[in-house]
Amino acid sequence: MKRPIDDAPSTRSGAPARVASRAASAPGRTAAPGVVWLDGRLLPAAEPHLPLTDRGFQLGDGVFETLRARRGVPVEWAEHAARLAESAAALAIRLPYDSDRLAEAIGELLAASGLDQSTDPDPGDAAIRITVSRGTLAGRGLLPPGWERISATVAIQAWPHVPVPDAVLARGVRVVTSSVRRDPDHPLAGVKTTSRADHVYARLEAERAGADDALLLTIDGRLAEATTANVVLIAGGRLVTPTLGAGILAGTTRAWLLRASAVRRLGLVAVEADCWPTDLAAADEAFLCSSVAGIVPLVEVDGRPIGTGRPGERTLALRAAREAWIDTVARRARSRL
Ligand SMILES: Cc1ncc(COP(=O)(O)O)c(C=O)c1O
Repeated sequence: MKRPIDDAPSTRSGAPARVASRAASAPGRTAAPGVVWLDGRLLPAAEPHLPLTDRGFQLGDGVFETLRARRGVPVEWAEHAARLAESAAALAIRLPYDSDRLAEAIGELLAASGLDQSTDPDPGDAAIRITVSRGTLAGRGLLPPGWERISATVAIQAWPHVPVPDAVLARGVRVVTSSVRRDPDHPLAGVKTTSRADHVYARLEAERAGADDALLLTIDGRLAEATTANVVLIAGGRLVTPTLGAGILAGTTRAWLLRASAVRRLGLVAVEADCWPTDLAAADEAFLCSSVAGIVPLVEVDGRPIGTGRPGERTLALRAAREAWIDTVARRARSRL
């Protein structure tokens, strides 16, 4: 396990923690993080942290994870830690910390940011991002000599989580089909790299079309996923989501849905299958899902309504079930602390 660079305070009693508390107590839940965790140190977020030679900055040569914490507990941590390790391995990036140390680091950051509070009715959700860059290399080029020996840089940020607004849940989200296609045979398809220009481009297409998000298809025209979420359809008695063979991210929320008793209680059978735009157009309901936003109704694609064009009842029931499950596991984990 990589050691911290120095003895900078890593508990809530340190100076950066005070910087963070001020930010956390700022009005509104969108406050930028006041403190970040960088390779073992808690640092004020506003100061410069990385050299120009950082590979993440130069080349998007890195991987990341985003997840939610509830009541100071990172939700589905084991799943996110495993996916981070798989992403890093795909790019031959050595993770300098094991999952226990990363969990500890998240705890330190949440405490320093005042985001570890558990009160009712506000469960104090936080959105967390762990970014791993291959590190810094002064040499030019993609893999200059010495690349195998550099140490990866790990940064963790945490924000007060802003739930999807009620107005958005009431109307549902609208998407357009992106011109960006996903190649399922690409070795990095489904790997959470920091090279997100494709996704940014797809989001720009959505912005320009006045939509909320964009849907990516595979090169042979199957449904893949949205820019930051998996896609799920409800058709008759089936809850259907594209297979991992569509080159999608193996989402943790998607995996939860595939095994959730809440799905079965609604009389639905969860399946992974090849899905086509025609399946989406003919679905009774659809939604997007991710660990931070949760389950969000999808009501329109390319200007055409899905089902009634309004958020589906089963979608909203699943959203409520997922949020309740998150709270249950967080309370349980917290009571064990
Ligand atoms: C492209 C993409 N697909 C799917 C997801 C959903 O994954 P999860 O449910 O693990 O958040 C994300 C989340 O960041 C994503 O970026």
